[in-house]
Amino acid sequence: MALNNSAAAEPTTSIDRDEIVEGLTRPQKTLPSKYFYDHRGSELFERICRLEEYYPTDCEMEIMRENISEIADRLGTHIDLIEPGSGSSRKTRLLLDQIDRINRYLPVDISSEFLQRVANELKQEYPGLKVIPVTADYTQPFELPLDDSGARRIVYYPGSTIGNFTPDKAREFLKLLAEIIGRDGGVLIGVDLKKERSVLEAAYNDSEGVTAQFNKNLLLRLRNELKADLDPELFEHRAIYNSDEGRIEMHLVSREQQTIRIGDDRFSLEKGETIHTENSYKYSPEQFEKLVSGLYDIKQVWRDSRNYFSVQYLEPV
Ligand code: TRP
Repeated sequence: MALNNSAAAEPTTSIDRDEIVEGLTRPQKTLPSKYFYDHRGSELFERICRLEEYYPTDCEMEIMRENISEIADRLGTHIDLIEPGSGSSRKTRLLLDQIDRINRYLPVDISSEFLQRVANELKQEYPGLKVIPVTADYTQPFELPLDDSGARRIVYYPGSTIGNFTPDKAREFLKLLAEIIGRDGGVLIGVDLKKERSVLEAAYNDSEGVTAQFNKNLLLRLRNELKADLDPELFEHRAIYNSDEGRIEMHLVSREQQTIRIGDDRFSLEKGETIHTENSYKYSPEQFEKLVSGLYDIKQVWRDSRNYFSVQYLEPV
């Protein structure tokens, strides 16, 4: 991730056709999960977060509420708060309430329209706060407008989004974050914990079918933005816990033998064949410690009352 003083990167929300074709050409077909989050996808995801079955949001909110003063003390008194994948910034508000400590808030999100709307709301809610939205796909190098206030850089990465990377990529990403924040920075991160399969699978297979709509939104985007010839109704949503890998896997399952066309490219699917769209890795506390070892010291871990979720405060070694 490049760091300099130039303006925010150009919107990067459009779909990269080559990336889609590459994923659909693999033996196990895949679609990149970052494309879930167009405006509609971002809204669907907000609905997922409010679902009864989707425990991570409630657990993380509980942890933040119960421990906010301890957490704030860890972050310091003069900080730039950087949030990759900020979405609705719902959890962030608890931190923003500690406004005296915050020099600037820099939400980074791939959905520029959604980001702008949230940024404007925040500016109204927190009149004294400097909100600097950055539209970027934060999984690629992006530019962050810096100032010379000497504020301490804190990355806030809630939602267990770190679990959406494979462990190798997660480590790579955490390494980049360490470069961004510098030696005296910190990372406040949400990490979902291992637990019973039934709880995990219900969270990603909600009874209202919102997660199914969210997953299928990828197909709608292919149809609308790449003019792909496909019928989203010919796919069903599936989420299963792969205990060997320690991850929830999200798939789109083909209901019948079919061919998807994108321009001159054709991709055929057998009945029952899947497109793998997302992983959500779950970590035991020991596994997460191992993941960050050599990069960060874990200074503090907070958990919810059910021991489902953790919020962890890290500092570069
Ligand atoms: N970071 C979230 C998680 O892993 C993302 C997520 C929740 C998600 N539900 C989803 C991604 C459904 C794809 C499909 O819990």
